[in-house]
Amino acid sequence: MITTRPTWLYKLVDIANLDSIKSECLNVFNKHYSNAFGNRGFTFTIIDRDILRAEAPSYIQVLKDLKLYERWNTSVFAGTMGNNRYEDSPIHVDTSDLNTPCYSLNMPVVNCENSYTLFYKSNTPGPIAPIPEWITDAASYKAGGIFQEEDCREIGGHNVEHPAWVNVAIPHRAVNDNADMRLIICARFYPEVHDLFNDSDN
Ligand SMILES: [Fe+2]
Repeated sequence: MITTRPTWLYKLVDIANLDSIKSECLNVFNKHYSNAFGNRGFTFTIIDRDILRAEAPSYIQVLKDLKLYERWNTSVFAGTMGNNRYEDSPIHVDTSDLNTPCYSLNMPVVNCENSYTLFYKSNTPGPIAPIPEWITDAASYKAGGIFQEEDCREIGGHNVEHPAWVNVAIPHRAVNDNADMRLIICARFYPEVHDLFNDSDN
C-alpha cells in the first residue's frame, strides 16, 4: 500500500536474451493475436499466460531471473498499425487508483527503433474521461482515463527499443514514427513491485 504516487517516468532495464524474447513474442502474436487490431490503429490485448509459458520460454525465464515470476499478473501486447503520433493513442493514465498497479515492465517485440513512450504533465488534477472502449479489450484499464491534448505538455519520453519500467500512472501515450506495425509486450505485477525502487526515487 502506498499513499503517494512515485513521480519518476521510466527506468531502463537491461534484459538478457532480448532477441529471443522478441522472436518468441512475435510468433505468439502472429499465431494467436494477429486479429487484435480489428479496424483500429492501436491496441492493447491481454495475452493468455499459458500461451507465453508454452511458447515464450525466454520471456518466462527473464521474469524468473528478475525474481518477478511469482508476482506476474498480466502481460499485454501494446501495438500500433503504423505511424500514429497523435490520433490513435490518446494521452492517458492506465490507472488513477492508488491501490492498483502503476508500473509496467515493457519490452520491444518488433519495429520499435522509431517508437516512443512520451510522458506529459497535465493542468488537470486527473483524467477527464474514461479510456475509450475501442482502444482496449482489457477490463483492467477501467481504473485509467484520458486527458485533453490542450491541457498537457510533454515532459519526457523513451525509445521503446530499450526495455524499461514505465510509470503508467503518469500521463503518457505511444508514438510510432515508422510505417510498419510496432509491438511491445508489457507485464504487470501483483503485489505491486514498489520494493524494487528506492524511496528516494519517488
Ligand atoms: Fe498506457
